[in-house]
Amino acid sequence: MEQYIIKGGVRLHGEVSIGGAKNAALGILAAAIMTDETVTIENVPNVRDIRVLLQAIEGIGAKVKYVYNNSVQINGGAICDINVDYEYIKKIRASYYLLGALLGKYKESQVTLPGGCNIGSRPIDQHIKGFKALGAEVDISHGMIHTKAERLVGGHIYFDVVSVGATINLMLASCMAEGDTILENAAKEPHIVDVANFLNAMGANIKGAGTDVIRIKGVNRLHGTTYSIIPDQIEAGTFMFAAAATKGDITVKDVIPKHLESLSAKLSEIGCQVIEGDDCVRVIGSEELKCTNVKTLPYPGFPTDMQPQMSVVLALAKGSSMVTESIFENRFKYVDELNRMGSSIKVEGNTAYIEGVEKFTGAQLAAPDLRAGAALVLAALAAEGISEIEDIEYIQRGYEDFDGKLRKLGAVIERVDSEKEAQKFKLKIG
Ligand code: UD1
Repeated sequence: MEQYIIKGGVRLHGEVSIGGAKNAALGILAAAIMTDETVTIENVPNVRDIRVLLQAIEGIGAKVKYVYNNSVQINGGAICDINVDYEYIKKIRASYYLLGALLGKYKESQVTLPGGCNIGSRPIDQHIKGFKALGAEVDISHGMIHTKAERLVGGHIYFDVVSVGATINLMLASCMAEGDTILENAAKEPHIVDVANFLNAMGANIKGAGTDVIRIKGVNRLHGTTYSIIPDQIEAGTFMFAAAATKGDITVKDVIPKHLESLSAKLSEIGCQVIEGDDCVRVIGSEELKCTNVKTLPYPGFPTDMQPQMSVVLALAKGSSMVTESIFENRFKYVDELNRMGSSIKVEGNTAYIEGVEKFTGAQLAAPDLRAGAALVLAALAAEGISEIEDIEYIQRGYEDFDGKLRKLGAVIERVDSEKEAQKFKLKIG
């Protein structure tokens, strides 16, 4: 199994280009099958979750072609199956977007119940409530969800919780329904806007994405287009926090600084210097980080996907901090690993109480999930000595060439897939 070997203590510096947003790409690739014409999507991150979704899209008969590394052409004209029943698809949460996309296009869909990161119970009741409001029957049996509608008719849906997944899924299902749909208490994340913009580029009529009320007028057909995905807010944030953790100086390039404001604000608050350009943000770490409190919230609040990285940085700040997780219930699984590196963190309920320490020391670690895994890499980069991180396939689900990009910033990190390779690298770095 692959692992990262990291020698910490280097201040990362330089520039790093940020790829397309994984969570936008998952919605957009699913949406692309809703037309029979060819769609070209650019800035698609080459990460595991995306490859799995593309495999499933091919599995139901659509044509998928990598034009070059980050551009994909999809043609949904040859889809011959509405049944997405593959063992591997369970591994990604966003498989459920095929449920909305196929229901919207063919008025029927069947998809294996989604998996994804184990960060707490992740119900899909809001998706189901939405599909039913459009006139679909929804049935769950044998680990599959089946939706079917004689006629799919626009409806008025008030979401009980703000859900990224349910908002995207209902935009997909309703954009080809008869009549008008209103989604209230919708999620406002940048990738919601990106999926809506993409659907509109295919001929859909969606207004209000980015606010909490989205209005959709159903259209009969969607057509081909070429579209470029927005930059990944969380990949950018992870590198910004790497600057803070290693007291480095990193410029994240090809980003939309507005999407990073909640992160920039927290970094400034703890003493880092944050300089915004038109499409870049430079973070200069502070010699002495200050403590603060953070609570995760739906956009434009502080993102739950940056919570572990924030805790790593606060664990190295002077004084006591509190990190409260309000979106997912089981998102502190990295804390035990971090405490083994010398941090002082106690979790009670949905809050982590952090007493800052002067340094971490390298240790043998295992990535518990995607973002927590990335956070442990930041901790290892800041730590004294060598760390070994196992289960990095979680990290590869969402970060393209993570180790390569870190190496260009000066990090001493290697991805190895045998004990022999690990020994060889450890010998080299001493
Ligand atoms: C998406 C992101 C994930 C991010 C999360 C919150 C993808 C593939 N994943 O996940 O990286 O951490 O948004 O920004 O885009 N909920 C319900 N019922 C539902 C749906 C959700 O109760 O039907 C609850 C969830 O349990 C959670 C909250 O709503 O507590 C938010 O979940 P949601 O926004 O749906 O997250 P995902 O779309 O799964």
